[in-house]
Formats: sequence, structure tokens, C-alpha cells
Amino acid sequence: MKLVVVGTGYVGLVTGTCFAESGNEVTCVDIDAGKIERLKQGIIPIYEPGLTELVLRNSQAGRLKFTTDLVSVAPEAKCLFIAVGTPQGDDGSANLTALWKVVDQIAPHVARDAVVVIKSTVPVGTNRQTWERLKEKAGREIDVCSNPEFLKEGCAIDDFTRPDRVVVGVTRPPVANVLHELYQPFLRTENPFLVMGLESAEMTKYVANCMLATKISFINEMANLCEAVNANVNDVRRGIGHDQRIGFQFLFPGVGYGGSCFPKDVRALIAVASRFGLPSKMLHAVDEVNNLQKEVLFSKIHQRFGGDLAGKTIAIWGLSFKPRTDDIREAPALVLIDQLLAQGATIKVHDPVAHENVEAIYKDRLTYCKHHYDTLDNADALAIVTEWQQFRNPDFDYIKHKLKQPIIFDGRNLYDPKLMAERGFEYSGIGLKA
Ligand code: UGA
Repeated sequence: MKLVVVGTGYVGLVTGTCFAESGNEVTCVDIDAGKIERLKQGIIPIYEPGLTELVLRNSQAGRLKFTTDLVSVAPEAKCLFIAVGTPQGDDGSANLTALWKVVDQIAPHVARDAVVVIKSTVPVGTNRQTWERLKEKAGREIDVCSNPEFLKEGCAIDDFTRPDRVVVGVTRPPVANVLHELYQPFLRTENPFLVMGLESAEMTKYVANCMLATKISFINEMANLCEAVNANVNDVRRGIGHDQRIGFQFLFPGVGYGGSCFPKDVRALIAVASRFGLPSKMLHAVDEVNNLQKEVLFSKIHQRFGGDLAGKTIAIWGLSFKPRTDDIREAPALVLIDQLLAQGATIKVHDPVAHENVEAIYKDRLTYCKHHYDTLDNADALAIVTEWQQFRNPDFDYIKHKLKQPIIFDGRNLYDPKLMAERGFEYSGIGLKA
């Protein structure tokens, strides 16, 4: 099938590449000529395990092409996926400028039997507005389909090719057939293809992310409480998780959720709820708890050093908002860095892939270390912010030898507090009794 994917960001590039891999002829379009040029040379703008190989393989096979010329390729496509960014506006709502630009541009060129599929996360009502706008601009009806994505950064290829479910919202059921055909290679009996109305599909995306964000803020608040009452949140998590109504997943306490999705989507749904006169107390609390949680490591460090961090050196392991990505958008590490810098601390950082992005913001105000052990020289304490695999089983004797004092603030609960005490560390996790 001939497909056009507009927007070569995270979602668009993964979608286009995976559909090419399953045998379709895909053209990915972007207005950024530099990006398109680099993609043609096989240079991928984001860090995502496995993606470079897939892009190269499918480009070489001629199934995956890149262009800036949307108008030329639009008439050929059976499905036109729109995956452009919908950044957060000042009031928390999504900014749809890029989407409307694409819609207006393609309207006169969409083939008679083609479907326009919206992959971008858009506020409830946007797919219907797109349908109406296309009709107005093209002077005829064009089918629109809402197909939200549920990819996780770092696991995007796996998530795309083995989805838990595929959700499609349509104005009339037959429109879903073409999407079913496309997703068929990735579907299994236990992973359904769910057809619903446009608004339900839009809500599904927000409700999924907001539910996950709620779980995290909930467990973070409980973890802080565990710490205060001398309980261990890991034990509590085990204690509740066996109840199948609760489960174990997404209940790992930490330094708050970050990334381009949860913070933005929670605020976007807050904005939608307010617009409909139903302000969400729940989601406001989820957002607020998360903002506070990002300050937890700093508070602990600040308190441990008697409120005086001037002249202290803090080592930080992990900068990206989670492992297996170089994405630092809304990353908790940035909040910690800002607070430490404001207190006059010296900071040495290591991240396996995110240095370039962090350096673009902080320049020479931080020391960037090639190896995570190099951050420890002359450091008064180590703070762990992202749970990269390589931090899970370090040489503790070496860490102790390098640090000025054996103090670790662990924002991801990587180690066992009892063992850490036996190893001679002053160790502080999230929601763990000392
Ligand atoms: C999230 C969703 O998981 C995807 O399903 C969705 O498609 C995507 O947003 C999106 O809307 O595009 P992602 O932002 O890549 O994916 O990251 P997650 O792996 O979900 O992690 C989000 C944040 O939650 C991270 O900061 C992570 O450290 C934190 N987290 C996650 C916790 O603090 N505790 C947990 O138990 C799980």
C-alpha cells in the first residue's frame, strides 16, 4: 500500500519505518529540509534502539523515501498519516498550528478513496474539526481516522510491531478497514484492533497517559509517606501488587515522570476539562505531586549538607528522563541541576547518550564525564537520577574509594538499603527506611 507520513519526529519516523518494514511503500515528509537530507543519508535525528538499522534497510530496499514536497506525494497515498508536533501552549492546551497547516495543504490533493489518519496527540474534537475542514477546503468528503499511538521511547519498534492494542476512531466503521489491513501483520488474538468513534479514540490516548501518570504520582506520594513512617515502599509495592486489581506495573517510585508525553498530556486534559466546565481536581493533583517529586533529591541533598552546598561537588548519574533515550524534555535531572547550581554546588554529570542535549542548555556550567565513575572524583555525594542498566551493579568498593564521603542519593531505588549499609554507604532511596 502507498502511504505518506507527514512529520518525521519520533512518532512519524517510527510509524513510517515500521510500515515500510511490513512491505508498504512509504514516503516520509517534513518541512525541515536539513532533517530530510540527513534522513536520506541514513542519519537519524533521534536516539532510538534499532531504528537506524530499520531506516537504512528499508531505504535501501526502496520502500522508504524522504521528501519535503508534500503536495507532489499526497495524491498517490492510500493513507496519509499526520504525525506533526502538537506542543503545549501557554495555557497548557495543545498548539495545533502545524496540524492545520498540513490539513490545508493536503486537502486539494487527497485521492478519492484515501484516508487521512491523525497520529498526533490532539485535543478531543480535533479529528472531527479536521474532517469538517477537509470537506470545506476540498469541496467533498474526505475520510478521517484517529489512530493514537502508544509507543514508549526506547522501546518504540517493539511497541509498534507488537502493540497491546490498536485504537482507531472513525466517522463510519468501513473507514477502519484500510487501517486493519495495514496493522494486520502486527496483530495477535490477545492484542485487539479496536474501532470506536473519533472522540472516544482521542480520549483513549489522554486517559491512558493520565492514568499512568496518576499511578506514578500516587506511588510517589505513598513512597514519601513510607519514608516518614519508617516503612519500605518496595515491600508495600509487593504487598499491593499481588492483588490483581492493582498489579505491579508503573508503580515504581522515583523522582517524578518526565518526557514529552505525560507532563504535556496531563496538562492538556486539564485544559480540556476546564473548557468543558468540569475542572479536574485529580489531574491538577497528579501534576502538582509530580512537580514536587522532581525536587525530592535536591531537598535530601540540601538537608544532608546542613543547607549549605556552596563549594560542594555532586556527581549525577543519568540525565535523560528515562533510560534508553537521549530525550531530556521535562527531565527530573534538569530540576536537580538548576537547584544545585542556584546553591553554588559544583556538578559532574554522566549520561550514556544525553550529554549533547544537556550541554546545549548548561554549556560549561557542568563537568561532563565520559565514564560514570569519573564523576566521583572529589565528589561529596552521588545522586542517581536515571536508571540506566549500567548503573545497576557497579563496583561499590571503587565508588567508596573515589567519593570523598560514601553518600548516595538514589532517585530510582536501584540498590538494597540493607546491603548498602553493610557496604558502608550512607544510602538514601525514595520511600525506603534507612
Ligand atoms: C509514555 C507512555 O508510556 C506511552 O504509552 C505513550 O505512547 C507515550 O508516553 C506518548 O504519549 O507518546 P514515554 O513518555 O516514552 O511513554 O515513557 P514511559 O516509559 O511511559 O515513562 C514516562 C515517565 O514515567 C518516565 O519519566 C519514567 O521514569 C516514569 N516512570 C515510569 C516512573 O517514575 N515510575 C514508573 O513506575 C514508570
